[in-house]
Amino acid sequence: MNFHNQLFPLLTLFFIVFLSGERVLQTEAGHHHHHHPHHHGPAKLFVFGDSYADTGNIQKAVSKSWKDPYGITFPGKPSGRFSDGRVLTDYIAKYLKVKSPIPYRYRKVIPEHVKYGMNFAFGGTGVFNTLVPFPNMTTQIDFLQQLIKDKVYSALDLTNSVALLSVAGNDYSRFMQTNGSQGLESFVVSVVNQTTMNLIRIKELGVKKIVVGALQPLGCLPQITASTSFQRCNETSNAFVLLHNTLLNQAVTKLNQQTRDRSTFVILNLFDSFMSVLNHPSTHNIRNKLYPCCVGASSNYSCGSVENDVKKYRVCDDPKSAFFWDLVHPTQAGWNAVYNKLRTMNDLQQILY
Ligand SMILES: *[C@@H]1O[C@H](CO)[C@@H](O)[C@H](O)[C@H]1NC(C)=O
Ligand SMILES: *[C@@H]1O[C@H](CO)[C@@H](O)[C@H](O)[C@H]1NC(C)=O
Ligand SMILES: *[C@@H]1O[C@H](CO)[C@@H](O)[C@H](O)[C@H]1NC(C)=O
Ligand SMILES: *[C@@H]1O[C@H](CO)[C@@H](O)[C@H](O)[C@H]1NC(C)=O
Ligand SMILES: *[C@@H]1O[C@H](CO)[C@@H](O)[C@H](O)[C@H]1NC(C)=O
Repeated sequence: MNFHNQLFPLLTLFFIVFLSGERVLQTEAGHHHHHHPHHHGPAKLFVFGDSYADTGNIQKAVSKSWKDPYGITFPGKPSGRFSDGRVLTDYIAKYLKVKSPIPYRYRKVIPEHVKYGMNFAFGGTGVFNTLVPFPNMTTQIDFLQQLIKDKVYSALDLTNSVALLSVAGNDYSRFMQTNGSQGLESFVVSVVNQTTMNLIRIKELGVKKIVVGALQPLGCLPQITASTSFQRCNETSNAFVLLHNTLLNQAVTKLNQQTRDRSTFVILNLFDSFMSVLNHPSTHNIRNKLYPCCVGASSNYSCGSVENDVKKYRVCDDPKSAFFWDLVHPTQAGWNAVYNKLRTMNDLQQILY
C-alpha cells in the first residue's frame, strides 16, 4: 500500500520499457535451460501485488520508495522498497532459497536474473484499479502470460515455481475514500471473488504452488492509529479485515478441494502473524510497536518529504526496534519478526514441495 498522487506521466514510460524489453528476454530464453537448477524445491518465484511485495517496479521519479530515508537499513540507499530494508518478497525468496526475483521493470537490465522468477508487484495497486495509475493484479498476471508466450518461461519453469500474491488493502482504502463504509461488506465479497479468479488464472498458467497473503490487521496501521496517538488498534477496521480473511479462507479451501494434490493454494496468515508480533513485541526485540519510525514533520508531510531542500520528516534512532517504518509499511525488523512467526505457524512449510 502507499498513497501518492503525482504519478500520471508514468504509464506511457512504463509501456515503452515493456516494448523495448523483448529482444533481451528472448536471448535469455535461449540460455536459461542450461542454468536450470536442481529438481529439489522451487526454482523460481513470481510475485504479484502491492507495496508489501514491490521491490522496485515503480519509476524512480514518482515514488517515495526511491527517496531517502527508504532503504537506509538495506541495501543502504533507496531501492524502490517501501521500507527501511527488506520486504515480504525478500523473506519468502530467502525461505525458498532463491534470489529475490528481479522487478519486472528491470528484466532487461539484469537479464541473467530472469531465471530466478520475476516480481510484478507495484506499490499502491489492488485487484481492482485504485488511486494509483499502476497495473492492477489482472494486468500484472497479463505480463507473466505475455512472457510465457514470448518463451521467456517454459512449462517446466512454471511447474517448478511458486507464486506469491500480496493483496494488502489498497482496494479497501480506495473504497473507503470514495464510498465510506457504506456497502463495504458486498465490496469485500467482490475483492475476494476477484482474488479467487486471479488465483485460478495463475494456476492455469501452470504454477504449481500459489501463496496468497491474508489481509494484515489494517486497524493497527499507523495511518489508522494516528487518531489515538498510535496507542491502540482500531477494532472496527480489524473486524472487517477478518471478514475478508474468512471469505478468502473459504474460497481457498474450495479451490484446493478441486485440485488433485489438494494443496496448490496456501494462505499466509499475515493477520495472526502481525497480531502475534504486536501483542508480544519484546519477544522479537521490538520496543516500538505502533509508533512508526519515520514520520512527517507535520500532518502536511510524510516519511521522505523534502521541501526547498529541507527534510520534512524524522527518523527514529533505531529502526531495528520499531515494527512500523512509515504510516503503512513494516520495517525490515517488522517483516523479519512476521517471517519468523510465519515459520513457526506451519504456513511456510506448505509452500515447499
Ligand atoms: C485492470 O486494469 C485494466 C487496465 O486499466 C482494466 O481494463 C481492467 O478492467 C482492470 N481489471 C480489474 C479487475 O479491475
Ligand atoms: C461506490 O458506490 C457506488 C454506488 O453504490 C458504486 O457504483 C461504486 O462501485 C462504489 N465504489 C467502489 C470503489 O466500489
Ligand atoms: C465471481 O463472481 C462472478 C459473478 O457473480 C461469478 O460468476 C463467479 O463464479 C465468481 N467467481 C468465484 C471464483 O467466486
Ligand atoms: C475506527 O474506525 C472506524 C471506521 O473504520 C471509525 O468510524 C472509528 O471512529 C474508528 N475508531 C477510533 C477509536 O478511531
Ligand atoms: C499545511 O498546508 C496548508 C496548505 O498548504 C497550510 O495552510 C497549513 O498551515 C499547513 N499546516 C502545517 C501544520 O504546516
